[in-house]
Amino acid sequence: MADPTRMIPRSWLFVPADAPNKLAKAKGSGADALILDLEDSVALAAKDQARALAAQTLAGPRGGPELWVRVNPLATGLTLADLAAIMPGAPDGIALPKPDSVADVITLSHYLDAFEAASGLAPGSTRILAIATETAASVFNLGGYAAAGPRLAALTWGAEDLPAAVGATHNRTPEGVLNDLCRIARSLCIAGAASAGVPAIDTVFPDFRDEAGLRAWAEAGRRDGFTGVMAIHPAQVPIINEVMTPSEADIAAAREIVALFEANPGAGVVALNGKMLDMPHLKQARKTLSRLPPG
Ligand code: COA
Ligand code: MG
Repeated sequence: MADPTRMIPRSWLFVPADAPNKLAKAKGSGADALILDLEDSVALAAKDQARALAAQTLAGPRGGPELWVRVNPLATGLTLADLAAIMPGAPDGIALPKPDSVADVITLSHYLDAFEAASGLAPGSTRILAIATETAASVFNLGGYAAAGPRLAALTWGAEDLPAAVGATHNRTPEGVLNDLCRIARSLCIAGAASAGVPAIDTVFPDFRDEAGLRAWAEAGRRDGFTGVMAIHPAQVPIINEVMTPSEADIAAAREIVALFEANPGAGVVALNGKMLDMPHLKQARKTLSRLPPG
C-alpha cells in the first residue's frame, strides 16, 4: 500500500536518457514526474551513455519534476548495472518494465534495499512504478500486486509490448479501437491497482501532434479510474495535468456530497437534486478530494 499522504504524479514524461537536449527540455516541461528512460528508447550501444547522463541529471538541481528512471527488464540481465549507475543519485522511483508478476517487483525491491544501503539512502525511499501488462504471463497475474510491499507507488500498462509478445500484427482494429487483449490489460491494470491500494496510471498516447485525441484519451482514462497518464512529448504535459486535476465543479460536487453525509450520520442513502446517493458515491467524492494538493 502506497503512502496515502504522498501525491501521485498526474503527468509522467518519458525522456530517452541518451538525449542531453531532451533531458534539458524535459525539466521545464511542467511534468509532475520525468521517467528517464534506459529501456526501449535507448539502443543497446547507447546504454552506458544513457546511464551516465541519467546519473548526471539526478546529481543536478532537484525540486522540479520528480525524477524516476525506467531500468531495463530483469530478464535482460542489464538491470543491476542500470541501478549501480543511478542509485547513488537517489531517484524518486524506478519504473520497472515487463514484470511477469509481483515477484519481479519484490526482486527489484530487494535490489533497492541493497543499493539504498550502499548509497546511504533512507531504507525504502525509492518507490516503484510497475509497467504491469507487457508480457503474456503478466496478464494472468495482475491481481497479485497487493503483495508488492510498501515501495509500490502505482501500476501502469502498455499497449505496444503485449501485442508484440503474443504475435499480434497490430494493437488496434481497422476502426482504430484498441484490440481486445489491450482493453483487457487496461481494465485489469485498473482493478489490479485498486486491489493493491495504489493508483493506476494510463499508458502513453503515441500520436503526439493530436492534442484533441490526447485530451479524449486522458478524459476516458480519468472516467475509468486512472489518476495520471504517461507522456512521450512535452506538448502532452499541460493537457494531462489539466484533465487529471479535479475541476472546480468536481470539487464543489464532491464537497457537497461529503457534507450531506456528514449532516446525516446515520444515513446509508441520501437524495441530492433528485438523485440517489449511497456509499459508492461518498467513496468517489472522498477520492476526488484526496487528489487535491495538501493545504
Ligand atoms: N522529452 C523532452 N524533450 C522532448 C521530448 C521528450 N520526450 N520529445 C521531444 N522533445 C523536444 C525535442 O528534442 C525538440 O527539442 P528542440 O526544440 O530543442 O529541438 C522539441 O521537444 C520538439 O520536438 P519535436 O520536433 O516535436 O519532436 P521530435 O521529432 O524531436 O521527437 C520523439 C519525437 C517521439 C522522437 C520524441 O518526442 C521522443 O523521444 N519521445 C520520447 C520517446 C520515449 O521515451 N519512448 C519510450 C516510452 S514509450
Ligand atoms: Mg516498451
